[in-house]
Amino acid sequence: MENNRAQWGSKLGFILAAAGSAVGLGNIWKFPGKAFEGGGGAFLLMYLLIVPLIGMPCMMSELAIGRAAQSNVVDSFGRLGHKGYAWTGWVGWAVAFIITCYYSHVGGWVLRYTVSYAMESGKVYADPLGYFYNMLGYDAAAGSTFIPWPVLIFAALFMAVCCFIIIKGVEGGIERFNKIGMPALFVILVVLLIRAATLPGAAPGLKYMLSIDASKVTPQTFLIALSQAFYSLSLGMAIMITYGSYLPKTENIARNTFMVCTMDTLVAVIAGFMVIPAVFATLGPEGVGKGGGFAFVSLAGVFQQMPGGAFFGFLFYLLLLFAALTSTISLIEGIVAFLIERKGWKRTPTTIAVGLIMFLIGCLYTCSQAALPIKGIWFDFKNGITYPAFCDAMEFLTDRIMIPVCALGCCLFAGWSWTPENVCKEIEQGGIRFGLVKLYSFLIKFVAPAAIIVILAVSLFTGTTLS
Ligand code: PFF
Repeated sequence: MENNRAQWGSKLGFILAAAGSAVGLGNIWKFPGKAFEGGGGAFLLMYLLIVPLIGMPCMMSELAIGRAAQSNVVDSFGRLGHKGYAWTGWVGWAVAFIITCYYSHVGGWVLRYTVSYAMESGKVYADPLGYFYNMLGYDAAAGSTFIPWPVLIFAALFMAVCCFIIIKGVEGGIERFNKIGMPALFVILVVLLIRAATLPGAAPGLKYMLSIDASKVTPQTFLIALSQAFYSLSLGMAIMITYGSYLPKTENIARNTFMVCTMDTLVAVIAGFMVIPAVFATLGPEGVGKGGGFAFVSLAGVFQQMPGGAFFGFLFYLLLLFAALTSTISLIEGIVAFLIERKGWKRTPTTIAVGLIMFLIGCLYTCSQAALPIKGIWFDFKNGITYPAFCDAMEFLTDRIMIPVCALGCCLFAGWSWTPENVCKEIEQGGIRFGLVKLYSFLIKFVAPAAIIVILAVSLFTGTTLS
């Protein structure tokens, strides 16, 4: 197979890029909220089992597919002799596209908050919820809405930075950026962890994260942990296929997978141990919110009550910004790499055009949060046809259906069509010995697909958002 694709310039370059993709908004604001919902210790235990048993085999498969095929997400399956799986690549490509539209806008919100803490933390503290609403175009006091131009500009800026880095290419842009961004992120996280864990009143939060409440060991908690793991590890979006295709044959896929998954999990767990105790310490257990509110609203109370709070707030959002940037870059790279290869387009104009389109669609996401009544359409068997806000419909589509479908396609491909023997042969290229062939085969053939089918069924039948 000809090989004129770009390659990672160094071993560290790949690991940091893949970890940069995995470590994102999912780890830092989603994980703590999910951990709280899942009872702290119970969720943590399940998550720590799911990552090695399901996440690692899936990531290893995606990387091996990409490296063996040396192609983009859609054509990789055909290159390996199974054209019939091209749909998996298309779904992955489409997921990456849709997610980037909104992910990059949330990146813009994070940028907004980074600036807010640097310049006007007093305003955030005075009315955290009002400040958040106001950013999104809703004046709660007057009950009126407006187009939130400032945050749209921040989102445009965020997207522009991502595109700039992509245009610089794999080695020049993505790799260099990650080499600085990832270690910086780790350092900032550890500083914040120490600060949070030593706050007076943090102990009950730590205890919550470390004790296992038996009543929370339920299938529901398992499902929340499972889909969080997929999202967090960037699986089911075929990103790792693209990244795998840049990986030299001499690299050990199994060891790389282990390192990336470990780093991702470490960041999530540190974020959990930083955020939950901090919120317990300042707001009490009832103050632990979820989702967007968690990252943007609840934490204001934490920073307000910390000495040097505005500075720590600024650091926290800067960290989120790094994480969101590296993840968005990986998403756009997957999309652009496909177009360049398939259509023969040039990197620079393709990146600019794709970035612009995604930014514009993302505007509907941000505006439908509060400013404009834009609706989507949704169906599940429990609630029938519903018309959720456009922003929610976008997330439902990716989280509830497309990610599990793409992940399932990859598992079936690796487990049953291309076969685990070929995956392992690819892993063993360059004289590497992979000692876990039997375990890998069992996990990828049976355990992972069964778990994914359960996610799909539960979300379709009960309408629960599982990620
Ligand atoms: N894994 C990222 C996170 O946890 O925030 C999100 C993500 C990035 C998903 C890139 C998929 C992807 F391709």
